Amino acid sequence: MKASIALTAAAALAAKASAACFSERLGYPCCSGKEVVYTDNDGKWGVENGNWCGIADTPAPAACWSTGLGYPCCSSSSAEVWYTDDSGKWGVENGDWCGIPKTSGGSTGGSTGGSTGGNATPGEQYTITGNPFKDVEFYINPYYVDEVNGAIAQMSDSSLIAKAEKMKTYSNAIWLDTIKNMQSWLESNLQGALAQQESTGSKVLTVFVVYDLPGRDCHALASNGELLANAGDMERYKTEYIDVIEGHLKKYKSQPVVLIVEPDSLANMVTNIETTPACADSQNYYYDGHAYLIKKFGVLPHVAMYLDIGHAFWLGWDDNREKAGKVYAKVIQSGSPGKVRGFTDNVSNYTPWEDPTLSRGPETEWNPCPDEKRFLEAMHKDFKAAGISSVYFVSDTSRNGHKTDRKHPGEWCNQTGVGIGARPKASPISGMDYLDAFYWIKPLGESDGTSDETAVRFDGYCGHETAMKPAPEAGKWFQKHFEQGLKNANPPL
Ligand code: BGC
Repeated sequence: MKASIALTAAAALAAKASAACFSERLGYPCCSGKEVVYTDNDGKWGVENGNWCGIADTPAPAACWSTGLGYPCCSSSSAEVWYTDDSGKWGVENGDWCGIPKTSGGSTGGSTGGSTGGNATPGEQYTITGNPFKDVEFYINPYYVDEVNGAIAQMSDSSLIAKAEKMKTYSNAIWLDTIKNMQSWLESNLQGALAQQESTGSKVLTVFVVYDLPGRDCHALASNGELLANAGDMERYKTEYIDVIEGHLKKYKSQPVVLIVEPDSLANMVTNIETTPACADSQNYYYDGHAYLIKKFGVLPHVAMYLDIGHAFWLGWDDNREKAGKVYAKVIQSGSPGKVRGFTDNVSNYTPWEDPTLSRGPETEWNPCPDEKRFLEAMHKDFKAAGISSVYFVSDTSRNGHKTDRKHPGEWCNQTGVGIGARPKASPISGMDYLDAFYWIKPLGESDGTSDETAVRFDGYCGHETAMKPAPEAGKWFQKHFEQGLKNANPPL
């Protein structure tokens, strides 16, 4: 009896090991060769012995300590060591530096789709001191890896596929954009990061976007959320969303977590209360929501929070920056004793980090901050002058590597000419100590909003000439936009 159980287990294991491609679950064998005859949403198909067969996916390259520094992992932990520094051992592959994974044989993290979860037990309380992006590995979002795998299955150009494969080795933010998504993604990814932390012995940072305020996206329509600007929904935000997030964060106390708070909301409070009735209706909820969450999350030692400040062509003008100083100082004060580490800029936007061709003048509508770098330099000064003590920034570079085709910098929806920008990296600019990181907050390939004019969340900006069409709803996969972002990547992928 014992022997037969052992044999069954061995057979099951063998079956699992041979189930190396997607087609087996659809009733087709795996191909032994690699020639692609047809591609659909399931994957790449070949023909062998007169029958369709599935071509096995190349597994996603693992993430390791060096992906957090903007370099890929070497393909093997026994790669030749070319150089060693405080971060680890470096090798060279494909003409570029790569990090040699620290553990041999074991997972070096970088979950590939669906490998979150598990039973790792949180350890001792971790405390972030200084820049939370420094000296940590960046967690890879398995949902994004799945999205990219789906995208690759629709591609046939091998150089584009190679670029898409690289996307799976970079970290980006996990958006908790509904109560349901928060329930599915918060704890599973905290667990995934914890398991990676235990296996590598390095701290693993997960970045979440808190994004469900009542009356969300008050100045536009494309990202209107599930909670409306009323007292009942405010209560739901607090009890079903913020309190639940707090519970999980308190449990997973031995790992660093960054929270990016409610993109666009406070920038709307600076510029759109008088002109947009929906923003006027939402203001009490936006302020109340921020005070509530800063008090809760801002006292957790392993959590660092960044409030969103829009982008250079939103708050960059002198009068807007001055007003912003007052609004943000008041909000931070209202969350005391909770602490805020700093601010995010350019989230889901396309403004270049540096654009020396622009200066204050008619072309920039007299904006003295026509790129993100100049915007942050000015905001740093102004926020300090407004009495905000902790002023650090995380700049979203997921889609600002290539100047888009937009005619006006206020255009924000699915811009053509998009290109992925600088890789996620801690302290990326020397001499700019207050820039904590470049990071990919908006996942390249997820839409900004639908171009379907009949949809409830259709926003006119998504119908503009330079908005790529046809576009799906905000957050849904947009293959054409993704492919263009890969092709225009700067630096190239
Ligand atoms: C959408 C969210 C989505 C996020 C990331 C936002 O524009 O409204 O639903 O999660 O983008 O793609």
